[in-house]
Amino acid sequence: MLPASPDDALAPDWLQEPADPNDLAPGVWPASARRDADGELELGGVGVAELRARFGTPLYVLDEAEVRAHALRIRSAFDAAAAAHGTKARVYYAGKAFLSTEVARWVTQEGLRVDVCSRGELETALAAGVKPSRIGFHGNNKSVSELERAVEVGVGTIILDSAIEIERLGAIAERRGAVQRVLLRVNSGVHAETHDFLATAHEDQKFGTPLEAAPALVERIREIPSLKLRGLHCHIGSQIFGSRGFAESASRMIELHAALREGGELPLLNLGGGFGIAYTSADDPTPIEELADAIVDAVARECEVRGIPVPTLAFEPGRAVVGQAGVTVYEVGTTKEVSLGDRGERLYVSVDGGMSDNARPALYGSQYSARIASREGTGAPVLARVVGSHCESGDIVVDHEYLPSDVTPGDLLAVPATGAYCYALSSNYNHTPRPAVVAVRDGQARVIVRGETLADLLSRDAGIAASGAERTGARTGEGEA
Ligand SMILES: Cc1ncc(COP(=O)(O)O)c(C=O)c1O
Repeated sequence: MLPASPDDALAPDWLQEPADPNDLAPGVWPASARRDADGELELGGVGVAELRARFGTPLYVLDEAEVRAHALRIRSAFDAAAAAHGTKARVYYAGKAFLSTEVARWVTQEGLRVDVCSRGELETALAAGVKPSRIGFHGNNKSVSELERAVEVGVGTIILDSAIEIERLGAIAERRGAVQRVLLRVNSGVHAETHDFLATAHEDQKFGTPLEAAPALVERIREIPSLKLRGLHCHIGSQIFGSRGFAESASRMIELHAALREGGELPLLNLGGGFGIAYTSADDPTPIEELADAIVDAVARECEVRGIPVPTLAFEPGRAVVGQAGVTVYEVGTTKEVSLGDRGERLYVSVDGGMSDNARPALYGSQYSARIASREGTGAPVLARVVGSHCESGDIVVDHEYLPSDVTPGDLLAVPATGAYCYALSSNYNHTPRPAVVAVRDGQARVIVRGETLADLLSRDAGIAASGAERTGARTGEGEA
């Protein structure tokens, strides 16, 4: 066993050694997370041992009340901020963060609309009963069949991303005798203070059109009778703390919006999503009410200067709705003390999942936290790294965390704040079936996305499943799939 106090040289500056390595940091865990009298973690009133017994590990657990509470809080914050300036707000849930029919129903019942960015997300929202008019459709390369389907079902807004797409959608809508409402995605040039790969509004990237190019594209959209331009769209990045980037982007967008209003009506401005959440107790995101006020105030100021009305504002939070509602439960398989000489020792804790169920640490260097979930540990905190079972040394689940030194094989380990972009980015790497997603609420647990089985994986191998060889074209919707 490692000594109680490891050498802190290995710990990053932001990580504090906790007084109690069993504590559940508020703001990181769902509000329902608590330990029962025996120290076992409960989520939505359901103990993790019961979850393991019924559904196995690894397991994505999603707290329904937490999702609903965030959805309502975000909608209320933007409604209030907009009302203070005599306008209205629309909040779209960015389904890319995590989409299933259940989640689509929860968020729409809380008054959100849904933003989708693929045929699969669109069909999921439709299957959930989301009104097509309350769906926004994004993407830098929507296929013809995706656009056809969106127009066919009456998607409320399609966010145009390029000159080619303007022509493509115009022709589709004309052929169908429809007038499609659209926004134009603009790259405001603001680089949000976040991980580079997440910052989507610096100039050298694939989304949207640069500010300077937007007027010509707007003019073209306005020439096409089958397209109805509602306004501009931008999205400056993800996991953003603070309002400066949003305010700067809003001010650039309003300048453009004001200029373009001279050529026709422009009732809407969509400022995207990207509101940050706490992944560890070191994260301190700005409360959504403050962010909403700061962003809408910035828009209103810019409108006042230009003497124009404040447009209806739209926002697209994903992570801020579902992130904190998700907890992944793993089982510890092995532990290993690794000595790093003068720098100290690190305890490697291997769990039965990894980069296939949470790619974010490998993709973005994202930090997470972890706690023993099946009991309270009794050992002193030691510096640990939670790793997965995949054949990659970068297969890290939690890079830096203090865990009780007695963490041992068979313990359940829970990683909070995994509701967004974990299931959504999951893979079958190493032929690993995806875990189930289970919703918890009021002491009840139910599967909302079935876990994959080995049979699921093997059934797609054409050398095993005789009929598989003919099943091509699944992604385009042209084959049988
Ligand atoms: C256009 C757009 N809107 C909204 C979002 C949601 O971002 P977040 O989940 O950080 O709120 C994204 C994320 O990539 C996006 O690209």
